[in-house]
Amino acid sequence: MDYESLRDRYSRFLSRRDEGRKPITFWDGELPSKDLICLEAGMPNEKMFPIKGIDLHLVERPFEDGDEDKVSITRYEEPVEMPIARALQYSEVRGMQPMVNFCKRIVEMINKPVYEHWDVLMSNGSSDSMFKVFETLCDESSTVLMEEFTFSPVVSNVTSTGANCVPLKMHLTTDPREQGIDVEYMEQLLDNWHEIEEYRHLNKPKLLYTIVTGQNPTGMTLSMEKRRQIYRLAQKHDLIIVEDDPYGYLTFPPYDPENPMKNVYTDTENPMSIDEYLQQRLIKSFLTLDTDARVIRLETFSKMYAPGLRLSFIIANKFIIDRLLNLSEITTRAPSGASQAIVYATVKAMATRETAYQDENDRMFYGWIRWAMKLAATYTHRRNVAFKALYETDAYKNHLFSVLEPSAGMFINVKINWPHAKPTDMKSSLDQLDKVLVNKGVKVVLGYKLAVDQKFSMDSSGFLRFTVAYASHDDQLIEGCHRIANGIQEYLGH
Ligand SMILES: Cc1ncc(COP(=O)(O)O)c(C=O)c1O
Repeated sequence: MDYESLRDRYSRFLSRRDEGRKPITFWDGELPSKDLICLEAGMPNEKMFPIKGIDLHLVERPFEDGDEDKVSITRYEEPVEMPIARALQYSEVRGMQPMVNFCKRIVEMINKPVYEHWDVLMSNGSSDSMFKVFETLCDESSTVLMEEFTFSPVVSNVTSTGANCVPLKMHLTTDPREQGIDVEYMEQLLDNWHEIEEYRHLNKPKLLYTIVTGQNPTGMTLSMEKRRQIYRLAQKHDLIIVEDDPYGYLTFPPYDPENPMKNVYTDTENPMSIDEYLQQRLIKSFLTLDTDARVIRLETFSKMYAPGLRLSFIIANKFIIDRLLNLSEITTRAPSGASQAIVYATVKAMATRETAYQDENDRMFYGWIRWAMKLAATYTHRRNVAFKALYETDAYKNHLFSVLEPSAGMFINVKINWPHAKPTDMKSSLDQLDKVLVNKGVKVVLGYKLAVDQKFSMDSSGFLRFTVAYASHDDQLIEGCHRIANGIQEYLGH
């Protein structure tokens, strides 16, 4: 599909506000030549910056503070593509080219889109990406489908444009084939939209927002088969799919109660190869099915490097990327140059260990993926620690809760098994349970608070979400899990 066809096909998805945003011509694009003295842009000379270098002290793996690699970002030399003079200067709104190339490489190597005219735009965290996507595509006439439990800021993002959110029922189950969006429900909803009492005053949805792997909050992962079915529905009903995937690299195999601390990533006898990780552990993005260029994928460095960098990227067809770029031009402009340089210098340092590869781009890619595997190993370990701790409690043995075992990400959901009927007022029951848990000294998130529509999801919101990500060490995580279980036991009166 060439650019004109993309424009013809996707212009109808744009919001009214997007129409009002005319491209700004800030600079005329004159290329600097030897004799050209550039006095036009308001850029402070780099020698006016109060620093001339940044030293990075890298760790070998999470939680290891031993011998470290040190890399420097200098004023002019290091890294050669992105030294201080460039990185801390005003820079390209799309992201500095070496970083854009690195992000493109990640996409090409893992989730290469099946059409040609795709592109990457760097942004300031997936929260920023989401804001830009909904701002560009939604207004009062728009309806957006999303999982019934979701990353709550998305709801505000959508409604702030005037658009409406419609929840999709989810299968909350440990079975990896069934997890996530209830596809039959979605199909019925779309096929019968104009007959459905609650929704027929709304326009048919034009967007699906989905967190595909290790979903926040439920931990569910959409199987490849479900991704295919959903993509077919998106084609039939002409939906854009916004695929938010901050946890896609953090996958783990099923928990083995016979061998609770088993970790395929750190198995010294049979170490996992990079290819095995890429081919068997990662689930392919909707991009790999996207013959129509209708998928917008959001990736972020928040969980894979650090959230404070505020660095992320969006992959979509070139026409949509241009519209998003246009919005960035008048809002955030370029993502932080310091963050880009830090990530770039880190990845270049990781690349030096990848001596098996000839090409520097390959070395950078595989160096980064090796780090992703170390993180996935850490999350797998923490998942094991948490499950073991939960499963050894009396509350679990007395069937007072079950665990919604995720296959990726950082969230675990504990589903309360109400001893009699489900409470008539789920909200106040969970609020009371929360008080008991806080008294026990543990803080979690209550299921109903994560529902797009509390009424719609009240019956299925009897769960507690907690994360394995933040605890300082295993013992703290174990203690947290015990407090959750003991709190449930006390609340349910056992
Ligand atoms: C599903 C989802 N999307 C986006 C974000 C935010 O990512 P970022 O830090 O890149 O803005 C989060 C953070 O928790 C998340 O869970």
